[in-house]
Amino acid sequence: MLDQRNLPDMLLTLDGERIETADRWLQRRRPEILDLFREHVYGRETVGRPSTLEFDTKVTPNMLGGIAVRKQVDIRYEGAGGTGKIRLLMFLPDNGQEPCPAFLLLNNRGAAHMDPEQQAPSPFWPAEQIVARGYAAVVLDVEDADPDFHDGFRNGVHGIFDPSTGERPANAWGTIAAWAWSASRAMDYLETDPDIDAARVAVVGHSRGGKAALWAGAVDERFALVVSNNSGCTGAALSRGKKGETIRNINDQFPHWFNGTYKTYNDREEHLPVDQHMLLSLIAPRPLYVASATNDEWADPRSEFQSLVHATAAYRLFGCKDLTEMNFPHPEEPLLRERMGYHLRSGEHDLKPYDWDRFMDFADQNI
Ligand code: GCU
Repeated sequence: MLDQRNLPDMLLTLDGERIETADRWLQRRRPEILDLFREHVYGRETVGRPSTLEFDTKVTPNMLGGIAVRKQVDIRYEGAGGTGKIRLLMFLPDNGQEPCPAFLLLNNRGAAHMDPEQQAPSPFWPAEQIVARGYAAVVLDVEDADPDFHDGFRNGVHGIFDPSTGERPANAWGTIAAWAWSASRAMDYLETDPDIDAARVAVVGHSRGGKAALWAGAVDERFALVVSNNSGCTGAALSRGKKGETIRNINDQFPHWFNGTYKTYNDREEHLPVDQHMLLSLIAPRPLYVASATNDEWADPRSEFQSLVHATAAYRLFGCKDLTEMNFPHPEEPLLRERMGYHLRSGEHDLKPYDWDRFMDFADQNI
């Protein structure tokens, strides 16, 4: 059921036009909302695809007990402030035939969850389980693009592409936007790889990685499916009426994640011209999956679910069913609807094999 939280009306443009068709949505309101998120929340990127982008690929056969081919792709770039590199690790089903769909994980938990050939298998990143279901398992470490601490935006892509010594504009991009940018650079590579069906790539992230996956899916329409796992505050969850983490909490603890303007909404969420259901609406009409965990009060499962339900307003314009009558589900009872999916898993804030299986069930139907 829809719970009313005094949210901004996503179908009403700033100059008062009521959006009633998919065309008007795509021409007017979607670009307007995207711009509002850039200006007030995630910040404006100073670079898209760098002209210096290069890929350097190493292939190893016979991986994951013989079911996969491993590719290690170094994505290199250069800007006025120096050079950078994002390393992609890919495990591809070794069936040697059709280009396959892929899951791209924006890994926020470092080296232990990258390469199952080098470390103990990780339930967070079950590459073997993904490959066994016919998907390429592709992962990058978000900290390749920008380390996850506040150093005044000197390291990572900010230092490379906007090394100016002057004061940073209040709408300049933060770290979450940098991580989303790295997902787009991964997509630049995937589009060149004949083993990948680039029209069927899902971007997935957990928690802070989930915030980045949603922003990547909003900015870059090449992602065919977007999956948010326990992304919470300034991810999938509505900010108005949210329990657990608030905008003030997140800005105080992680001042580098969002732009300067976002700090002006500490304890003033009702003044934001957007709320997070509008972030989800930017994915429409592409498939979108949101997952929560029962004990994850900091993220606030109900606010994640309500956000998805409210995002229905945009999906409806494309002929999708109205989900506003849907009730908050019981744990382990996934809601798989046309282009929109949700589940609540019992347990802690985490990304588990159970979550991955539901993401793949949804992908099987939708991409
Ligand atoms: C902190 C932060 C959350 C974030 C989480 C995570 O708890 O407050 O917003 O989602 O870290 O990334 O695990």
